[in-house]
Amino acid sequence: MRLVLVGPPGAGKGTQAEFVASTLSIPKISTGDIFRANVSQGTPLGIEAKRYMDAGGLVPDEVTINMVRGRLAEADAADGFLLDGFPRTVPQAEALDKMLGDEGVALDLVMELVVEFDEVIRRLSGRRNCHGCKKIWHVEFDRPTKDGVCDNCGGDLYQRDDDKPETIAERLRVYERDTAPLVDYYGAQGKLVGIDATGPVEDVTARAMEALRSFGS
Ligand code: AP5
Repeated sequence: MRLVLVGPPGAGKGTQAEFVASTLSIPKISTGDIFRANVSQGTPLGIEAKRYMDAGGLVPDEVTINMVRGRLAEADAADGFLLDGFPRTVPQAEALDKMLGDEGVALDLVMELVVEFDEVIRRLSGRRNCHGCKKIWHVEFDRPTKDGVCDNCGGDLYQRDDDKPETIAERLRVYERDTAPLVDYYGAQGKLVGIDATGPVEDVTARAMEALRSFGS
């Protein structure tokens, strides 16, 4: 399956993508994760991306589209993938349609995680990420046994630079302006399904899996 997860920052895309992709045995491709890996390795792409990420803005479309084109050309994505955080603008969505169309394939489904901004602010403010295995934690909703230490791998937990209050506010503004129009874009293609992303993680996962089952039947 070729899937996209869309939703505001902190909606739970990364959390859900992990489970859905492994259940379907398809790669999870997160543009945010790829940018962060480049930032920590200090690559030219990372140096460029960091300027935009730290300010809560989007990395320019051309840079992002080229990066995704390269990633989708890798062997593991040939038969399906779950995109988390891409596309994020209408030009990115158009470029993705074209990329896939050139290969004679198309997206199957776009799942929109629907959740109020008040809730995503709580989720982002308390998020902690593992330096080691990258697992996502939350100081209130998904606490590790020992503060600051990942239960999975023992790695240190850290707070993302873009999870500061002023950057969160800008990311939400950018989402409304640049990314929310994708709902209409994919709605018009008949590919959009809304998932209620409130409540416990497992409930959201169950709704996402149900949407996938309904699509398949
Ligand atoms: P990216 O990493 O994609 O960030 P984002 O879209 O802002 O999304 P987040 O990762 O912040 O949130 P999420 O929805 O994955 O939530 P999570 O599962 O972590 O992008 C970062 C930056 O990179 C962008 O700002 C931009 O600069 C750049 N970029 C990336 N893609 C780009 C593109 N296509 N074009 C241009 N620029 C791009 O959950 C959040 C927290 O909530 C966690 O602590 C989790 O434990 C908790 N949680 C999750 N679900 C629940 C639940 N149901 N109940 C309670 N808590 C929950």
